[in-house]
Amino acid sequence: MKDDPPETTRRNLLWKSVVAGTGLGLLATALAWARSLSPKVLYEPPTKRRIGPPGRFPEGRTFLSEERIFVLRQGNAYRAISAVCTHLGCTVGEADGGGYHCPCHGSFFSETGTNEAGPAPRPLPWLPLTVTGGALVVDLEGEVGPDHRLEVAVEGKPQ
Ligand code: FES
Repeated sequence: MKDDPPETTRRNLLWKSVVAGTGLGLLATALAWARSLSPKVLYEPPTKRRIGPPGRFPEGRTFLSEERIFVLRQGNAYRAISAVCTHLGCTVGEADGGGYHCPCHGSFFSETGTNEAGPAPRPLPWLPLTVTGGALVVDLEGEVGPDHRLEVAVEGKPQ
């Protein structure tokens, strides 16, 4: 009977290792599940922005620094053009005599956004405008032709 303890010890050791292995497995599974509750998502600002009621914009060009766009109003017709230079992304400004000028490397864009001078490889993109809940909404990732216009009635509804 005194010779039995080594076998008992081996059995106990085996049992303890099974319990420890199972415990570690369950712990790893629980940690993986807990991590899955917080998704790895890159939060970026929405590309569609409400820029205010149509009446906010006077006739002519209005620069919105936060969105980096120009809103052009001509009566009840609204258009939006990006103010992000197509060369390296500087913000363009209004050029003397019309058009847009980039202060970084001197690109010049015509009134229609066409790149006419400097290193800019492409025209400034025209952006889609819509009306939602009485406010103009610009899609900063969209693109429309230079003739695109949003006609808005006085009370802020599309015509
Ligand atoms: S960033 Fe506008 S010309 Fe270079």
